[in-house]
Amino acid sequence: MNTLRNHADKEPDTRMTGEPSNPGATRKLFIRTYGCQMNVYDSRRMADALAAAGYEPTERPEEADCIILNTCHIREKAAEKVYSELGRVRALQTARRHEGKDMLVAVAGCVAQAEGEEMVRRAPVVDLVVGPQSYHHLPKLVAQAMAARATPRGRAGIVATDFPAESKFDHLPEETAAAGASAFLTVQEGCDKFCTFCVVPYTRGAEYSRPAGDILAEAQRLVAAGAKEIMLLGQNVNAYHGEGVRGGEWNLARLIRGLAEIDGLQRIRYTTSHPRDMNDDLIEAHGDVPQLMPYLHLPLQSGSDRILKAMNRKHTGGDYRRIIEQLRTARPDIAMASDFIVGFPGETDADFQETMRLVQDVNYAQAYAFKYSARPGTPAATAEDRVSEEAKAERLAALQALLAEQQAAFNGRFLGRTLPVLFDRLGRHPGQHAGRSPWMHAVHAVGPEAWRNQTVDVTITAAGPHGLTGDAREAA
Ligand code: 5AD
Ligand code: SF4
Repeated sequence: MNTLRNHADKEPDTRMTGEPSNPGATRKLFIRTYGCQMNVYDSRRMADALAAAGYEPTERPEEADCIILNTCHIREKAAEKVYSELGRVRALQTARRHEGKDMLVAVAGCVAQAEGEEMVRRAPVVDLVVGPQSYHHLPKLVAQAMAARATPRGRAGIVATDFPAESKFDHLPEETAAAGASAFLTVQEGCDKFCTFCVVPYTRGAEYSRPAGDILAEAQRLVAAGAKEIMLLGQNVNAYHGEGVRGGEWNLARLIRGLAEIDGLQRIRYTTSHPRDMNDDLIEAHGDVPQLMPYLHLPLQSGSDRILKAMNRKHTGGDYRRIIEQLRTARPDIAMASDFIVGFPGETDADFQETMRLVQDVNYAQAYAFKYSARPGTPAATAEDRVSEEAKAERLAALQALLAEQQAAFNGRFLGRTLPVLFDRLGRHPGQHAGRSPWMHAVHAVGPEAWRNQTVDVTITAAGPHGLTGDAREAA
């Protein structure tokens, strides 16, 4: 599972990529993206697929001929939140009707996959429900749904949630949007691990790795279009085992070494990983591939072996400690990030204290902690020894306080240091740029327009709990 933008309780990302660049476009498309980076990547590919069918992106939902909600199922009440969002979409659709215009409504992503037919039944506004493995069929599905809207019945209610035998990656068009300085690239999808709390194996399906040649070609195109950093994405990205360039199989370490040969690609990252797949090759790559950034999101979930077993994580706290030790030997400055769940069924205070101990020992740069919440259809959802809401809240507060303390201390250590920052966005204030340090800090600094999409050495003049402020004038 992913971090950074992976949490559905964050603001949805409504950005569309690239300038409207399709002169033949006649219809407008609005995509609202929830959840992980994988969804952000998928939204771009959906926009690419529909560009060929005459749709151009808009940032204004009220002027959209087609609206897609690209949903996330990882948080509690995910489906309920989508249904209430659909209420708002319905109001937009009605307003457009009063202007004599129409709006097609599609729901994509993991809630679409999980709800399927139920969504068409419960939400009459929905024309099309499309699961993550069927996006290559979007132009056809949208055309069918559009045609149905022109008939007296008015609505097709199409549900495309099968896991097709062919891979969507072989059928989606090449990306058309210009890459920013930092680009996402999905290399692997799905999960075979079946952690007992998690919906991903059900919503994204079985593990699939794209062929290395396709990934290298896509990376080359992204770099040619301006990307300086590529974030490799996958629900279990370090389980990557794709067809190699000259036959055989490549693992993630081999793929990273292949990507490191691309001229102009300054930074490589990957997310998110499972401790079980943190093999020696990959650890070694952290030591000797300079483009591989010194930051790793490696979810632990719990520090208690009993709970890890109940979660079906297939590793112990001791295994995790050894991996961190090896990583730090290979790359002493590597910053660690993680995810934790508190209050998993059966978790005692003693189990929770083991989590706290492990967090203290690892010392994280950044981490997310969540209260366990049952996901319908997952094995843990039917467990009986529930932890009380009160205990969950207490444990969450204690863990979050410790993690916040660690993050602030980690940030503080960078005060006065000069760091290369890749500025890929503008900040909120005039002349301000925003970017990332190699260790994934958010860094803000005021500088000339020419910094946009460049890596600039800046000296850190302030360190807050969530990010750093820099000043280039003081950089040596
Ligand atoms: N309850 C609470 N947190 C969960 N996560 C996944 N499933 C659940 C659940 N049922 C958390 C995990 C994962 C992160 C993306 O979301 O910590 O790593
Ligand atoms: Fe979910 Fe576990 Fe697979 Fe991650 S490894 S996607 S938590 S089942």
